[in-house]
Amino acid sequence: MEKIERRKNQHLQYALEFHSEQNPDWEGIDLPLCSFPELDIKEIELTTQVMGFSLRYPFYINAMTGGSEQAEEWNRSLAILARECDLMLAMGSYSIALQKNEAKSSFAVIRREAPNICLGVNLGADKTVSQAQRAVEESEADFLQIHVNPLQELIMLEGERSFCGWLKNIEEMVRRVKVPVMVKQVGFGMSRADIERLAQIGVRTIDISGSGGTDFAKIENARRQKPYLALGNLGISTPDSLRSSRPFQQSLEILASGGIKNALHIAKALSLGAKAAGIAGQILYLLKKEGLEQTIAELEHWKQELTRLYLICGVKSTVEMNRLAEREQAKPADDRQGNRRRQTFGKEP
Ligand code: FNR
Repeated sequence: MEKIERRKNQHLQYALEFHSEQNPDWEGIDLPLCSFPELDIKEIELTTQVMGFSLRYPFYINAMTGGSEQAEEWNRSLAILARECDLMLAMGSYSIALQKNEAKSSFAVIRREAPNICLGVNLGADKTVSQAQRAVEESEADFLQIHVNPLQELIMLEGERSFCGWLKNIEEMVRRVKVPVMVKQVGFGMSRADIERLAQIGVRTIDISGSGGTDFAKIENARRQKPYLALGNLGISTPDSLRSSRPFQQSLEILASGGIKNALHIAKALSLGAKAAGIAGQILYLLKKEGLEQTIAELEHWKQELTRLYLICGVKSTVEMNRLAEREQAKPADDRQGNRRRQTFGKEP
């Protein structure tokens, strides 16, 4: 097996091995419950608009894999899952298929299994416009997803060591590639300055992909003999990164991923202003643990839970869910800590 294929398989293996179904970062976020929603459950609409696409559900399957035989089997399952649950899907980095013809089948399986889903092709920010255009055409993608992952590259044994020109490349891709472009992190989060720089070069859709879920510092360190421990634990959590994105939420489409494990986390991300929430590690884990049929059933269950969460927050659409962010900001500080105080009540001296 070639080096790059081995790396892809190790990413899958370690992502599963290190997976946790918990993410305490969401515990500090309250959903404002409503005793008088004045809504009928039939009125609740989970739809959302992203990159000009109308998505039936405000969550999607985020970029994971491709390039190896094992990856092809994962991609078949992910495609069927996206088709059956009617979810947007981003495929894993297509860069291996730009280098090796044999790798293409592991991506082609996705369109074959799911001809009608909203599909993204994923590439790094080191790629050129013509490579991006080729990836979009070959994979029959509806949008281009560009990942930015300098911290992962720096820990990765065979990773990049020069990061010059990424903004210029992204700017060119946004201007010249014929499909909409989304820029994403890979689980380390984006700061306010990062988002501002992307906005300045014309990017309109950003997945801040924060920490709290799949940890690529840990994964790449596990592949090294001597880990770079000083580079672990540097990420911005997804809720914190979403808060940093607030000044841009009117002018840009902000998406959330990183450590989203269930319907409550999705609802909380939407309440902090995300137009949709991306899930990678938890879906991989569910597929491995429960199999495809049960994972489909689980995601269908999330949709029902989400409908009920909208209702109990007194909102009937994703746009209204996003406006809860304004309410949270307007609350007095005392109120914001209400839940935390209630949890510790009784233990205090
Ligand atoms: C990823 N992720 C990823 N991202 C990307 O932009 N291109 C890629 O090729 C990959 N590859 C990849 C492989 C595996 C096995 C996993 C689990 C993840 C990162 C992913 O899209 C997401 O940003 C992070 O995993 C954080 O989300 P979760 O996993 O905490 O939901």
